[in-house]
Amino acid sequence: MKNLSGWGIAIVLAVCPAAPAQGPKNAQGAPPGQHVNAQRLQQTLEKLGEFGRNPEGGVTRLGFSEADLAAREYVMGLMRQAGLEVRVDPAGNIFGRRAGAENLPVLLFGSHIDSVPHGGNFDGDVGSLGALEVIRAFNDRKVTTRHPLEMAIWANEEGHHFGKGVFGSAAAAGLLGPEVLARRDEQGLSLGDWLRRYGQDPARFGEARIRLGTVAGYVELHIEQGAVLDEARIPIGVVEGIVGIRWWTCTATGFANHAGTTPMNRRQDALAAAARAALAVREAVRAEPGRQVGTVGYAKVEPGARNIIPGRVEFPVELRDLDATKIERIWARIQKRFAEISQEENVPIECAPLSADQPARTDPAFQQTIREAAEAAGLATMDLPSGAGHDAQNVARFAPIGMIFVPSRGGISHSPKEFTPWEDAANGAEVLYRTVLLLDARLNRN
Ligand code: GLV
Ligand code: MN
Ligand code: MN
Repeated sequence: MKNLSGWGIAIVLAVCPAAPAQGPKNAQGAPPGQHVNAQRLQQTLEKLGEFGRNPEGGVTRLGFSEADLAAREYVMGLMRQAGLEVRVDPAGNIFGRRAGAENLPVLLFGSHIDSVPHGGNFDGDVGSLGALEVIRAFNDRKVTTRHPLEMAIWANEEGHHFGKGVFGSAAAAGLLGPEVLARRDEQGLSLGDWLRRYGQDPARFGEARIRLGTVAGYVELHIEQGAVLDEARIPIGVVEGIVGIRWWTCTATGFANHAGTTPMNRRQDALAAAARAALAVREAVRAEPGRQVGTVGYAKVEPGARNIIPGRVEFPVELRDLDATKIERIWARIQKRFAEISQEENVPIECAPLSADQPARTDPAFQQTIREAAEAAGLATMDLPSGAGHDAQNVARFAPIGMIFVPSRGGISHSPKEFTPWEDAANGAEVLYRTVLLLDARLNRN
């Protein structure tokens, strides 16, 4: 995998000279020259937000859950209504095909509709239904393309359920063996069981792999999930690259004992050790300059009572950076610190790798096409890296990729408070519309 350090740090401002970001509106309230239907996109997004709605107003729609299944049925219905030929692959990825005029590889675009626990209404949804809106707008205008077009909804992008993020695209890239299907959730159901519930035969999992050469390119529209575009008041981000993400599950094993009678110097307190480990992760990540991040996102404490010394704590470690070797280096520092803490606390800490998603760079020609598409729509752009993971990073294994970002209000995401103004979502869909047409015209010319 390429070393991506150096290029991802610089944020380049590429403001289009052509027209102001938010130009004058026409009678329907849409910016002049807008092909997508902003109102229809908003209505569809609001309806999707009803599936798995959480009390905070966002959604909890984990990949491989009843809420996700119902939302998929809703979206597949819309895809069929839009005339797409819909199929689900053995990993649960949804594809909807629109024929092209020539015998060419497909142009693929889409995102995901599953969420994190206590998630929002925009992460994944904007790109998925933005892709649908592009298809609908092509239909409205009877646009024909040279390439067949396929809209993709990747399965279990968030990976909270079964501990594997960007799951569906990883299967499509051939990165997952069948052993992943044996992973079980807290209800005792395996990933294979869930695939069966989704109408798939786990024995055919390997067939989800997409062959090299069958996809001409992939474009994903997504909310930024950070504050860069919002603070700069730039409506469109051109993604330079996507971070690599590594997950481990760690266990601190102490000894559960009476909290009143066990002297302080005779304890093996698993929570004290895990707390020190969480701080050690933060220190190890901060020990060198750069945008790398590290998180301990939860702690499961057992037995979990006020008057018992914690005997066992499970906690995850997540590390992200655009440079895979930097992640390795930080992990080595963390392991050294964990060994020291284990000794000092008399509490062994052991970590098992759970998932590793490599960083990926977007294709420079796709970046330029997105810039041109935005400029033609009168929208200013900014180049920026993605600190969030995306299915596009796996698709990069078998096709060139590009990503379009739209602003996230206040940089809030993975939260019910996540918000992208409807106008910005429509701008993103418009740039996707124009990008697909430009790529269709440019790719596979002899
Ligand atoms: C996916 O949203 C991730 O970056 O965790
Ligand atoms: Mn997400
Ligand atoms: Mn997402």
